[in-house]
Amino acid sequence: MKYIVKGGRELGGTVRVQGAKNSVLPILAASILSNDKCEIRDCPDLSDVKTTLEILEELGCNVTYGVDFVGVDSSSAFNPEIPERLMRKLRSSIIFLGAVTMRMGKARMSTPGGCHLGARPIDLHLKALKTLGIKVKEEAGFIETDASEAKSAHVHLAFPSVGATENTILAAVKIKGETLITNAAREPEIIDLISFLNAMGARITGGGSGTIHIEGVASLKGITYRIIPDRIAATTYMCMAMATGGEIELENVKRDHLTAITNELREEGARVEFFGERGYIRAPRKIRSADMIKTMPYPGFPTDAQSVFIPHLIKGDSTSVIVENIFESRFKIVDELNRMGADIVTEGRSAIIRGPRSLTGAHVVAPDLRGGAALVIAALSASGESVIEDEGHIIRGYESLVENISALGGDISVSNT
Ligand code: EPZ
Repeated sequence: MKYIVKGGRELGGTVRVQGAKNSVLPILAASILSNDKCEIRDCPDLSDVKTTLEILEELGCNVTYGVDFVGVDSSSAFNPEIPERLMRKLRSSIIFLGAVTMRMGKARMSTPGGCHLGARPIDLHLKALKTLGIKVKEEAGFIETDASEAKSAHVHLAFPSVGATENTILAAVKIKGETLITNAAREPEIIDLISFLNAMGARITGGGSGTIHIEGVASLKGITYRIIPDRIAATTYMCMAMATGGEIELENVKRDHLTAITNELREEGARVEFFGERGYIRAPRKIRSADMIKTMPYPGFPTDAQSVFIPHLIKGDSTSVIVENIFESRFKIVDELNRMGADIVTEGRSAIIRGPRSLTGAHVVAPDLRGGAALVIAALSASGESVIEDEGHIIRGYESLVENISALGGDISVSNT
């Protein structure tokens, strides 16, 4: 798949932000805990969602597809095993481990393996499940669990891992007694998962704080639920405005989920306003460089946003520094951007972006999901034509990216040759 972009135009207009990828994936996994029918509204059309739905069907669920919703009937789920081909397609499919184990009494799946961001270990997930009395056997790249002796417990996470927090909640929600999770992740997607489960009849408090309290319930019922907007997709469109000197209105945003992003953009000279569930950004004529952006667990600056921030910082009035504290290998786009005329050096976990520089279109390769989006932004701000080769990263996380950019006045097309 190739994206062909002719850059140099200011983007302007309105774009509707998709439902959150990182909310819908754990919520779809949670749906099997209901033995009932769930309907997830504002479900984004993404390849990661398609793979998750394939997994649900593999488990024996009936899935129905609507225009912007999916229906999952898990009353007929019977299979405790996820095939390796599907685990390999979707790294975050480890999120099924807790839910399948508690629904079926056992589970078998392969370890998800690493990805373009680095090793992606799951030790915190497995340790948490063992603390809940779940038997975990790992051999030859497979994980087998047994819930026959599951019990409520105090689970302390050594790091506030998003996925490990989600897996622990999904494992504990129907275990009799009181489970406590300390040093839990605080991301909005965790709160969304908890809201979904509580609407099904769960008793979970503390979402968004570092301490989550779960009172186990015997059963959960099917519901209809609308997921939160995707804060990283919103950030991506805001950065398109910054990099092209344009102004964009966003529909379907939650300002509280974007505080770190909004503060940084305002410091760089942008005008950012919110009115209810709409946002507005106008790029400054001259972008102030970022002294130091450090990625941190929520509510800090999100790691998923750092790649898409780089293109406009290349135009910054001086040197910007980004420190990536969450993943070990998330600056793979630096070489590609330097081929377009940027002057970026990486030193360990830091990227030093020397500005101001202007970019020229080039032939580049997308290294991962957010890196691919960043290269599209860079191409939109560059003079001339760029070709972005992508083995399917971008459609994992962005719904209607080409249509949305075209509607904002960008010159972009996609070819499958
Ligand atoms: C979630 O990944 C998101 N994915 C990621 O978004 C996001 O970047 C990440 O959280 C951080 O916010 C989904 O929600 C589907 P972590 P996750 O567990 O859960 C280490 C995107 O672009 N760690 O919080 O995998 C890990 O190596 C994706 O949408 C362990 O050491 O993230 C990493 O360094 C990319 N052991 C750090 O914690 C473990 O058992 C954060 O990982 C688990 C994680």
